[in-house]
Amino acid sequence: MKMIRAHNLTLSLRDGQRRLPVLQGIDIHIKQGEWVALTGANGCGKTSLIRTFNGLNTPSAGSLSVAGLDMRSPQNRAAVKQRVQLVFQNPEAQTVGSTPFEDIAFGLENRGLPRNLMIMRIREILQQVGLDHKAEADVATLSGGERQRLAVGSCLALEADMIIFDEATSMLDPAGRRDITELAQGLWRSGTTVLWVTQRMEELAESPRIAVLGGGQLLYDGDPRTLFYTSGLPDSLGWVPAPVVSVGRLLHSQGWPLHLLPLTEPQLEELL
Ligand SMILES: Nc1ncnc2c1ncn2[C@@H]1O[C@H](COP(=O)(O)OP(=O)(O)OP(=O)(O)O)[C@@H](O)[C@H]1O
Ligand SMILES: [Mg+2]
Repeated sequence: MKMIRAHNLTLSLRDGQRRLPVLQGIDIHIKQGEWVALTGANGCGKTSLIRTFNGLNTPSAGSLSVAGLDMRSPQNRAAVKQRVQLVFQNPEAQTVGSTPFEDIAFGLENRGLPRNLMIMRIREILQQVGLDHKAEADVATLSGGERQRLAVGSCLALEADMIIFDEATSMLDPAGRRDITELAQGLWRSGTTVLWVTQRMEELAESPRIAVLGGGQLLYDGDPRTLFYTSGLPDSLGWVPAPVVSVGRLLHSQGWPLHLLPLTEPQLEELL
């Protein structure tokens, strides 16, 4: 099944009296269970695109279906908001309860579980995101990383089919970043579709598929080796390559074939 099927997707947003064109002619398909990284410069339309994918923005033209639902219909957009969850950049902005326990309980509210099963499920989710010891803490006292884990917990409570992380690790320290990344990878391995918005070169290089937005258009959609080693796009966009890719380019210039070029540090270590 296709999780996302966009054809010639166009979005304009209201800016005072005018309508500002934000996305133009986006064609992208994402299969259920895929991990796709989405990148592009500040203001290129990444957040606008993912808000369109979960029904917060309404496409101005073109077609978009999400989990098989046509997003021109308001009912379908409302249904998709639950199935496609966003985890935002700012850890402050996304909790509804005053404790992690309450926050997860809100997500489970509409499932009609008997109280004892509901408490078990809340405990299970808090454990999965590593917050069982903070179940009754005031959310205002949680660290940024803990809040992001709680946000992922809410996605689990809602049984989201797809989770979109909008630069969700950009405000975290390296340990917090690793926690969230590992949590996301674990969910992906157990079948959740993941769209991972990032500006970090090493996160891009480790993604099986990368979509690059520029000026509201899709500039690239494909594998990381082609993007980093033969497309020329990273240079034309002024990206500073990850150290592993710099080494890989050197090897490429020495005649190494594309399929052997490293994308991650472990791959580089193995080569050397
Ligand atoms: N609600 C809105 N109303 C009008 N214009 C908007 C709105 N939201 C975003 N825009 C405009 O749409 C364009 C794309 O913004 P968007 O936030 O999608 O970019 P982004 O790629 O997510 O950027 P960043 O990397 O900074 O998060 C920008 O020019 C922005 O000013
Ligand atoms: Mg953004």
